[in-house]
This record gives sequence, structure tokens and C-alpha cells, in this order.
Amino acid sequence: MGFDPWDAAFVADPYPAYRELREQGRAVWSPATGQWLVPHYADVSALLRDRRLGRTYLHRFTHEEFGQQAPPPEHEPFHVLNGNGLLDLEDPAHARVRRLVAKAFTPRTVERLAPAVERLAGELAGAFLAEGGGDLLTAVAEPLPVAVIAELLGIPESDRALLRPWSADICGMFELRPDEETARRAVRASVEFSDYLRALIAERRRLPGADLISALIAAHDEEGRLSEQEMISTCVLLLNAGHEATVNTTVNGWWALFRNPAQLDDLRRRPEKLSTAVDELMRYDTPLQMFERWVLDEIRIGDSVIPRGAEVALLFGSANRDPARFENPDALDLVRADNPHLTFGAGIHYCLGAPLARLELGASFGALLAAGVPPLRLVEEPQWRDGYVIRGLRELLVAC
Ligand code: HEM
Repeated sequence: MGFDPWDAAFVADPYPAYRELREQGRAVWSPATGQWLVPHYADVSALLRDRRLGRTYLHRFTHEEFGQQAPPPEHEPFHVLNGNGLLDLEDPAHARVRRLVAKAFTPRTVERLAPAVERLAGELAGAFLAEGGGDLLTAVAEPLPVAVIAELLGIPESDRALLRPWSADICGMFELRPDEETARRAVRASVEFSDYLRALIAERRRLPGADLISALIAAHDEEGRLSEQEMISTCVLLLNAGHEATVNTTVNGWWALFRNPAQLDDLRRRPEKLSTAVDELMRYDTPLQMFERWVLDEIRIGDSVIPRGAEVALLFGSANRDPARFENPDALDLVRADNPHLTFGAGIHYCLGAPLARLELGASFGALLAAGVPPLRLVEEPQWRDGYVIRGLRELLVAC
């Protein structure tokens, strides 16, 4: 089986195909996706930092100049929303917005959250265990990051149920070749989410709080350098990023632990190893398998000369299993010492939420491990959701 993001068997276990790709070369043309696949750690790491590549090309070229078709006008609300968020800006706009957002989203902001995150993780884990288990995804993995990011941004509690469906509909567009129905849902969610945030921003402008939206408004008003659209787009990015990857990391991570019971037992006895273990779970089954980049100026990868206008697919899942960088990469090793995984990316787009994600993951794994006496056990083998880029399980049924 080769690289086939639409094949359920590939999504369930892409690692044998990655091994073949790494043997085939440093850049492998995929007729199925129309991209150059980059499977090696050293290349993915270097290309994430290479300014000849971009998440967008629109800061330098029009669609026409770049040989691409403009998206249909009816998809515009999605593209306006997505294109003005931090992740899809390139310099100089990226540097300007990142500086302002980073000012409002400092490591101290995250540190201050720690007690509340740990308390909430403890409550969710406690309730889950008191029920005798259930679906770990909906009961623990999802509510924690959703509540934390909503709290951080200052989304009123009564509105929070709106967020995950909007986020899921928008994230459908990040899969390869989304169909028209996915696009329609993403456009509708983009309009509703933007209108919602525009109204909330207006309210916070009148009555500022101690939340991130109020801090972004202050950055906008004092320095006048963050447009309202950039603010809306960045809030949506934070909400989506805050929801999707952390949820999947938790559930994929537990599935990996259940398949390695001796290591799970060991971790239960040595909770001081938890942060090293969380990083290994992120390497072992990377929740975001692939990120794309446009080639803005010709590059060479190995023997392949890749022209301007082409697209490269950086295979994070493969890079994190590359034997040239990781010893025994297909083995889960919860005490792995040398683990510079690429799960949070690298270069100018390096994940701004990495400290928050680590805090949430540590709290949720820690709470379930500590409270799990008798330990959790798997009820049935889980199934993978459709979707390769954002890769996660449908549910994870466990009992105790
Ligand atoms: C385990 C959880 C997470 C993973 C694996 C993850 C992964 C990533 C990756 C790989 C990128 C870079 C993408 C690229 O280079 O194309 C990124 C960017 C980003 N992430 Fe995360 N993320 C996680 C959680 C979060 C959280 C909780 C937040 C915030 C609340 C967040 C906010 C962001 C933002 C704002 C960016 C864009 C940074 C920029 O473009 O300068 N992420 N994330």
C-alpha cells in the first residue's frame, strides 16, 4: 500500500507507506495529490525554516501569476477568514501580527492558567471514572481544551457549545481536496463565526475584560497595527488550533498507551516522567500528519529541482519516525531522552500554543493516570475518523 490519504487502511497506519517513501527518495512526486512529498526529518526540519517556501503565495504573486485558479467567489468568506489569520500570513505581515498576538499570549498567561487547567482536568477525570468510564474523547479529551481556550479568549460559557461545530466545519477545508459540501459547510461556519466574533469584539471594546480578546483589542487600538479582520481571523485560528490537535493528541496517545501496557504501568508508577512521555506520544502518533507549503522560488531537494508554483507536502508523521534521527523510531519509548520531534513545527510558524498544549496534555494524562485505580482498560479497538491531515480516532471507549 502506498501513500493514499483517502484510503482508510492508510489513515489507520500510514507508517509502512512512509518507510517506503523515505526509501524512494528525498522528494517523491505524488500524482494523487499533485504535490512533492517530503518524508525525511532533516528535509522537513530545514524546509520549515526556508523562506523560499510559503504557506501562501499571495504576498508576492496573484493567483494568475502563480499559475493557480482563484477560488470560486462563493468560497470567499472562508478564504478571507483563513487568509488573515497568523498561520496563513507571511512576512512582513506575519512578523507584525505574531508580535502582537504573542504579547497577548505570553508564557506567563499560560503559567497563570495552570492551576485552573489542573483543577478542570481533575474534575473531568473524576467524573469519568465515577461513571465507570465511557468515551474518553467526548468526556475528557474534548471538554478540557475547548473550555481552556474559550476561557482564555473570554467566550461566555453559554456560547461555548457553538464553537466545536464551527471549528470542525472550518477544519474540513484543511484536508486534501475538500468536496463542495465540505466547502459549503466551511463557508457557512466562517460567516457565522466571524459575525459572532465581530459582535463580541464590539462588546469587549465597550467593556474590556481580563481576556485575550480584550488584550488584542488593546494591541489594535494602541498601536493601530492589527486590523479587525486579522483579529477575527486570529481568534478563530486560536479557537480551532486550541480545539483540534490537543483533542486528537490525547486520544491517539491513550490508544498508544493501551497498546503498550508495560510502559503504561511504568508511567503510572513514575508520574515524574509524564512530560517526557507526553512528548513521546506526540512524536509516536503525530496528530497533524502533514503541512503544505508553496514553492515561491525554485528549490532543490536531493535530485529533484522543484519549480516555483509547485507545492510540497511536509510529512510530519514520517519525519517523526525517521530512523536517521530517532533510534528505533517505530517503538514507543516513554522515557526517550533525545526527542526533537517536529510535531509543533519549526521556523516562523512554530506553534504559538505549544506551552498551552503541553500544559493541557500533562494535566489530562496526569489526572487520568493518578485517578485510575483500578486502571482504565480499553473496551474495544477504536476506529480512525476519515481525514488524514488532522488525524484522530472517532471515539475511545474505556472502562475502569
Ligand atoms: C498538541 C496540540 C498542538 C499541535 C500538535 C500543534 C501543532 C502546530 C503546528 C505544527 C503549527 C505550525 C504549522 C505550520 O508550520 O504550517 C502550529 C501553529 C500554530 N498553533 Fe498549534 N498545535 C497544537 C496546539 C495549539 C494550541 C492549544 C494553540 C492555541 C491555543 C495553538 C495555536 C497555534 C497558532 C496560533 C499557530 C500559528 C503560529 C504562526 O503561524 O505563527 N496550537 N501548531
